Amino acid sequence: MNNSKRSLRPNKIRFAIDTKDEKTKDEIMLELESGRITLGEEKYLITEIQLKEMLLHADDLGSGAQGDVKRINFHNHSIAVKQIKIDDLNLFKQALKELNVLRKVKQDMNFQYIVRYFGYVIVNEPKYIYIFMEELIMCLDKFQSRIKTFPESIVGNIAFDVINALNYLKENHQIIHRDVKPSNMLIDKEGNIKLSDFAVSGELNNSVAKTKTLRGHFQYLAPERIDESQNSVYDARSDVWSLGISLYQLATGKHLYSKLGCDENNEFVLLSFIEKHEPPRLTLEETTFSTEFCDFLNNCLVKNPKERPKYKSDGPNKGIMDHPFFIRATMEQETAKKWLKEQILLVLSNK
Ligand SMILES: Nc1ncnc2c1ncn2[C@@H]1O[C@H](COP(=O)(O)OP(=O)(O)OP(=O)(O)O)[C@@H](O)[C@H]1O
Ligand SMILES: [Mg+2]
Repeated sequence: MNNSKRSLRPNKIRFAIDTKDEKTKDEIMLELESGRITLGEEKYLITEIQLKEMLLHADDLGSGAQGDVKRINFHNHSIAVKQIKIDDLNLFKQALKELNVLRKVKQDMNFQYIVRYFGYVIVNEPKYIYIFMEELIMCLDKFQSRIKTFPESIVGNIAFDVINALNYLKENHQIIHRDVKPSNMLIDKEGNIKLSDFAVSGELNNSVAKTKTLRGHFQYLAPERIDESQNSVYDARSDVWSLGISLYQLATGKHLYSKLGCDENNEFVLLSFIEKHEPPRLTLEETTFSTEFCDFLNNCLVKNPKERPKYKSDGPNKGIMDHPFFIRATMEQETAKKWLKEQILLVLSNK
């Protein structure tokens, strides 16, 4: 065998069907997995035509920057399908990377704090990716628009579930989420909170590879992620910041930056505000929150990422999972879930 030729391009092969594009073996495998859906023990193969037929009868669950989320009936299971339009090859390659993350996480999909994922379908011309996942009731953004604010103990429970999800993704799959915000926290009918869209993230070791596709809402973005051209290396602690911003919103019903007088609708103003301004602080004088909660939020919102806590303690530096607010939430889980369950049923009954 001619080894010298192989070593020139060890992991790339020419893909005959697709014009001048070169695909890695990984990418080809990902395309081959398209249409394979696993629901528990059952495995199904779904074609483009069957999917299109199902989508004709689908209900809307919501929509985001990437596309719509629909409810479809799949072999008598009600499941959610996220539809992502792919406009160019780079985006497609990025999406394939994200599917790879989903594939890895799929193996231990019963982890209770993340949305279960069943498979995907790639559709050509126009190019779309459809991600099949567990259907939940709604995201916390929408839930909050119905109940206005969450009591502090409930915010503690939300923090508990989300931090467990983030820590699990980091420890088991070397993933940082990169899009932590209330609309990616979903609630089920038992009052459990599950983190979604972890596949729009990226793997930790790729975190320095700069993507200019910072999707979603900028107000959750950590300061160190704003000017990525500065070679700022960010890690899971940028998710800790986004979590802090999200928890503030859930607890107060307000967006933090508008409270500080910043025009959140102006992307440029907002980004420079996050980058240049002192981080927002919660003080006991201006709130009715406990010292623990104020301190927890202020810890998440430490501006210098190197001084911001990680999930778990690291030497002498305490992690947010060791913070008294988190520990209190661990003990108040049952009551919090009961409250969430009652409220979500109430919201559903008044739909
Ligand atoms: N698995 C799901 N079950 C039920 N509803 C869902 C599910 N996933 C998403 N949704 C709903 O669909 C909406 C759109 O979700 P999507 O992830 O596309 O966008 P987003 O997170 O709201 O915003 P962005 O596109 O900026 O990230 C969500 O707000 C949520 O209400
Ligand atoms: Mg989302």
